Order: sequence, then C-alpha cells, then structure tokens
Amino acid sequence: MASDKVKVVNKGGKRYLTIDCSDSPHGPSIADYPQRMAQVVEFLTTGEVDRIILSDVYERVYDEKQTLMLKEIAGLVNKFKAAAVWAPSLLGGEKCSRFLPKRRGIVVDIASNLLRTDPIRSYIKCLEAIELEKAKLGIIQPEYKHCTEKYIQTLEFLRANLESTELIQELKSYIRKLKTVPPGRGFYRSMFEAQLKPSFIGSRISFDLPKEIELLDQYKVKDTNISIYKHPEKIEYLYYLDPPEYALSPEHYFLMSKTKEIVSGYHPEGLEFTDLATSKEYFKKIYETTINDIARENKIALSPEEVSALASIVVRYTIGFGIMGLLLSDEKLTDVYLDAPLGYKPVYIVHSEYGPCQTNVIFSNEEAESIVSRFRSMSGRPFDEAHPVIDFDLQEYHTRTATIGKPLSPDGIGFALRIHKSTPWTIPQFIDVNMFPSDVAGLLSFLLDAQASTLVVGSRGSGKTSMLMSLMLEILRSQRIITIEDTLEIPVEQMRKIGYNICRLKTRSSISVGAVASEVSPEDALRTALRLGESVLIMGEVRSREALVLYEAMRVGAVGNVVMGTIHGENAYSIWDRVVNDLGVPNTSFKATDMCVTSAPIRFKGSIRRARRLIEITEIGKHWYEDPQKEGGLIDLVTYDATKDKHTIHKNTLYEDSEFFKKIRKMRGMDIDTIWTDITYRGKSKQHLVDLKNTHKIPELLEAVNSVRANDMYLLFQEQSRREHGSVVYDKVYNEWTNWVENQLLKELLSRRKASEEAKQQ
Ligand SMILES: Nc1ncnc2c1ncn2[C@@H]1O[C@H](COP(=O)(O)OP(=O)(O)O)[C@@H](O)[C@H]1O
Ligand SMILES: [Mg+2]
Repeated sequence: MASDKVKVVNKGGKRYLTIDCSDSPHGPSIADYPQRMAQVVEFLTTGEVDRIILSDVYERVYDEKQTLMLKEIAGLVNKFKAAAVWAPSLLGGEKCSRFLPKRRGIVVDIASNLLRTDPIRSYIKCLEAIELEKAKLGIIQPEYKHCTEKYIQTLEFLRANLESTELIQELKSYIRKLKTVPPGRGFYRSMFEAQLKPSFIGSRISFDLPKEIELLDQYKVKDTNISIYKHPEKIEYLYYLDPPEYALSPEHYFLMSKTKEIVSGYHPEGLEFTDLATSKEYFKKIYETTINDIARENKIALSPEEVSALASIVVRYTIGFGIMGLLLSDEKLTDVYLDAPLGYKPVYIVHSEYGPCQTNVIFSNEEAESIVSRFRSMSGRPFDEAHPVIDFDLQEYHTRTATIGKPLSPDGIGFALRIHKSTPWTIPQFIDVNMFPSDVAGLLSFLLDAQASTLVVGSRGSGKTSMLMSLMLEILRSQRIITIEDTLEIPVEQMRKIGYNICRLKTRSSISVGAVASEVSPEDALRTALRLGESVLIMGEVRSREALVLYEAMRVGAVGNVVMGTIHGENAYSIWDRVVNDLGVPNTSFKATDMCVTSAPIRFKGSIRRARRLIEITEIGKHWYEDPQKEGGLIDLVTYDATKDKHTIHKNTLYEDSEFFKKIRKMRGMDIDTIWTDITYRGKSKQHLVDLKNTHKIPELLEAVNSVRANDMYLLFQEQSRREHGSVVYDKVYNEWTNWVENQLLKELLSRRKASEEAKQQ
C-alpha cells in the first residue's frame, strides 16, 4: 500500500492515523479485513496516535479505547520481537533440536504473524500448544522432558502477555459466558464497531447496539428515523438517529458531496437570511437543478424523489444546522446538550416522554465552530475570550440557545439548547395528557375568570411556562396583556393571530455576559409595564430582583387586573421562604398573590415514561403575620396523591375556609353552590372537547385556536342565559354549547381535514 495514503493528522490536540482505503482491495474496516488490521498494528509499533480513521466515501473512526486495544497488540509485537521468543534456546535448545523447526513455526505464528492479523487466533493457538505439550510431558521420553518444559515456559510467557491485553480479557469473558470460541471475525466486529461519518460532515454517528436492547418507540423527524431504546444496564434511554446521509450508495454520496462542494460558493460565510424557512425552499430548488446536472454529466439515473431527498440533505448541511438542526426539529425534545469538550461524549437530550436520553451522535468541534460563527452573525453579538457567552433565540426552531466558550468553559465550546412548543398548551390538552382532571380544569378556569393573581410554581422543566400559557388563554380577549420575558417562550405571534391584544417586553437575560446594550433590565421593563396602564401582567419568569418590584406593584394594586408569572420552587411555602426571607419582599406584599399552582415531573413506579402533574393549588390567605404555614395562611384547594395518580379538590375548604371564595361570593353576589356548579360545568365543557377529540381523532380541536373559540361560545351562551333568565341555567347552557361544538366547530374541522386529505391524494 502506497505510503501517501497513510497520514497522521493533528486535529484539536489529538493525532489521527488516517488511511485512505478508496483504491485498495482491503476495505476500510479493522474488523473485516485481516490485512487492514495488520497494517494498523504495524503502524502502531512505531507511530504514536490517539485515534484511527479509515476512509473511503465514509469515514470510519475508531475511538481512543479501540486504538488503545490495538496499541497493546502492537506493544506485544515489539516485546516478543525484542525477547526473540523464537530463539532456539527459548524453544528447548539443542536437546530438543528435532522439534525446533515445528516449535519455531508455532511461536512465530503466535508472536508475530497471527498476532497482527488475528490476535484471537494467536491466543487460541497458544492455549492449544500449551495443552498439547503438557499432555506430552507425561508420556515423553525423559531426555526430552527438560527441554520441553523450557518450551512450555516460553509459551506461558506468550500467554501471560496476551492475557494482559484488553482484547484478550474481553475474549476470555466472552468464552466464559458462551462456552465457545467466537467463529470468524465476528468478535472483532463487536469490539471494533467504528463510528461512521460521511467525510464532509463533522458529527459521528454510532450504530452499535448492545444485544439485549429493547425498542420502545420509533418515529420519523423529517427524513430521519428515530428509535428510542431501553438499555439493560443504563438508567437513561437511548435516542438513536438514523439520517439517510449516513447510508447512501456511493453514487448518491458522490452526487450529494459534489453538489455541496459546488453550492457552498453560493452563500459565503456570514450571509444570513431573515426567513430561514423560505430560503430553504428557495435553495432546495437550486440544489435540485444542480443535482440533476451532475447526475446527467455522470450518467447516473435518478428519480425525482431521489433528487428531492438528496437536495434536502444538502440543505441540511448548508442552510440548516446539520445534525443539530435535525435534533431541534424533533418536537418531542425539550433540551439538547452538547457539552465541552466536544468530540468525546455523545449528545444528550431531554425527551418530553422519556426524560433524559443519550444519543448516538458525537458532535465535533469543527462543526461547533461553524455554528458558533453563524450564531455570532445572526445575533449580532461578539463571542470571544472577553464575551464567552452568547444566548439568543433561534426563532426558526423555537429554540433558546446558550453557547459558552473559553475561558468560562475551559474545555471549549459547549451548547445548551431549549426547544419550545410552537403553539401554546391549552387546558383541554392538559386534561388529555392527565396533567390534571376536568374538575380541576374547571376550577382553574373559574379562578382566572375571578381574576386571581397566580404564580405557577415548579422545578425546571416541570411545565410551569406551559401551564402559564394555558392559563393565559382563559383571559378574555378584551383585556390587554403585557408580557415580560427574558427568554421568548410565550408564542405571542400565535396568540395575536387568535385575537389577543399582547404587548411584549423583552428583558436582558440574567445569564448573558455579552448582553446587548439595548436590552433593558427586568426591573426597568416592569416599571415601564406598570406605566402602560391597566392590563394583565405576565412575568415569564420571576427570578430575583424583579420580584421586589412585582410584589410591590401587586400590593399597591398598580396593575389593576390579574398578575401571573412562573417561579422556580417546590411549593407555595418554599416560594414564601425564598421571596420573603431571601429576597426581602415584605409579607404584606407577598399576600398580593392569591394562588400558587404547583406542577412537578412524576415518574410512576414501574412506568417508563415521565409524566407531569399539577400537584397543588394553594390559596395564599390574608390573615397571617409571621409564618403562613404556622398560622394557616396556606390553604390547600387541590392536592395530588402520586400513589393513586389522583387529584382531590377539597370542596369543604372551598365552601368554608377559602378567603378568596368568600370574597368572590360577596363581590359577584353568587352563592357557593352556584359557584360550584359553575366550576363543574366549566370542567365538563373542557372534558367534552377532549372526548370529541379522542372519538374523532382530531387533535386540532384542542389547539389554542379552536379551544379558545369554544370557550368564547360557552361564555356567550352563559351571557345569553343570564339575559333571558336573570341567572345562568347551567344545563341548558351546556346543551346549547355542545350542540354548537358538534354541529359547527367539529363539522368544520372534519371537513377541512377531509379536504386536505383529498388534496394530498391528487
Ligand atoms: N403535562 C405535560 N405533558 C407533557 N409535556 C409537557 C407537559 N407540560 C409541559 N410539557 C413540556 O415540557 C417541557 C418543559 O415545559 P416548560 O413549561 O418549559 O417547563 P418550565 O417552565 O417549568 O421549565 C416543554 O417542552 C413542554 O412542552
Ligand atoms: Mg419556564
């Protein structure tokens, strides 16, 4: 093999032995080709490298552990040679001279020839030789005994050395378990499963799966299959991507990489498009033309579907964000973590149904660098030693990105990406996923209608922001809403389309070092909001200093209407403890909050999936002075029992202890039974939507657009009833409303679906 095909390349402080196998009869695989293994071992007897890459159209990357295993073998080759284990004296010397040629052949095989191409066979051969010679000792003529023992000693030396290697250790444990010697080269395939990557792509993907793995779920994201597995020995699940570009035929691969090479000239680094989605469509068309041209020149036949599939891949690696973009397109993911140092550990993700998962992707530093330079130009912010953090919203993927670099992250670039749902959660959707039952939904809806100031409490990822959005949808659209967020999570655009009147204020992120001067602090934003006059005030997340202003505003009633926000904590008491004791908010201000709604992630016993549940609705009473817990100032309206997965509304508390309900009774002139009926019917109506959605398999029914429309109609019928009868006749209202939902809303949605299915078939 020509030596120009073998190179040592230095990348990111690591040395890679790279062998170009494209014109060689021996393929690019250590496992499958004995000559390739021998070539690598031979190189390692003198060369120092950390990893090995064998390439043809794809690159096979052998990691450091695998390289180390081969280095050990190379080390033995050197050691045996230096010890000249085949020297006559070590084979038994003159006394055994008649056996020497044969013994020499065996030892040369074990210690050199086989050792390079097939170390397993070398070890087996060694064991067999020892066994044979030991058996002979008993029957052999006495004069040969001593010199045969000498030979056995040499064989034992070989054996001990072989057994000191990782590879033979693995082999031994295989033999112990299966009681047989692995046939052929299958064992190497399991030890030297390489990570595969197309040579122009940075990310490596491993397709290695342990045998006892259990497939839990499978679905498609764009053109890529996703599989979720349960590993027998790991707590977290495995999230495996199988993008088509990692398994293209050589011809298709050629077309794709050639196209990419040509078109990368079209958009120089730094050029960005405000609307990525439309530019993707535009460029895909250009790429399709290019692919067709190259295919024609090279006489490669392609169907239109193949052209389109290849063009999509090129889009992914030019305008898209490669494998990162693919991960961000999975609506079921909530977080993606690419930790520094990149290139070693697989990417971690948090799946909304399966919790934290390890992926089969190893992201590379080069890819990270190119993404960072795009982030820099898109956000207009610096990223260097003086500004080692960039965080901004990647609107197209509904993602909040946080990127850190040196010196804050001494191991280099790392990313934390948070993906948000593109449409707001709705209360019926929450009923549908059992976040809370319909009677609790009715209560929440009533509380919002009664303008309860509400804090949504929970740990990170427990669903606070989602809950906040669903509560926002219960606010009448005649009211003006002001949102204050540092991370733009609330889908304001969507809500405006539905008819909400929202004024959005964005504040400086609390974690950003490289903040842009034009962004204001949360406290200032809040002050501005308060000056904007009467409106519902939504604080995306109450973190620290702004809490003071917020509570003060609530106390003096400056905001007029409802105030809602999310805050990190375990329950109402822990919020009080933090806000009052740590942040110094006075108790009297804290009492401006009416309700704390707490949610939490729950892992049910024996269940694979992680679920989220509302676990408490706590009223903040007004008649306590020092400690709300001790003085009965925290009034539980709803509690949750995880062992039974059951919510309880404490009706007695609502009837007797609740100060909030006493106030409502007085203010609205409603007796408590009527309030209870109101709550029940609100719950029933939401449940009805959920039931219809499930019977007719029409998830759109629960989306914000439609559930808000249904809610409006409900209120309209109520209003009508009040006009006609002087008070609301609940069962009549409910009947009129269900009629409308079934005969109007549902029919509309079903016929729209039918039309779009027909359109697809044509
Ligand atoms: N009940 C639920 N069931 C399934 N997924 C949920 C539920 N509530 C929230 N989520 C999802 O969980 C993720 C985290 O929710 P989020 O509201 O951002 O949490 P937090 O604000 O508490 O950090 C989001 O992707 C959201 O869509
Ligand atoms: Mg949140």
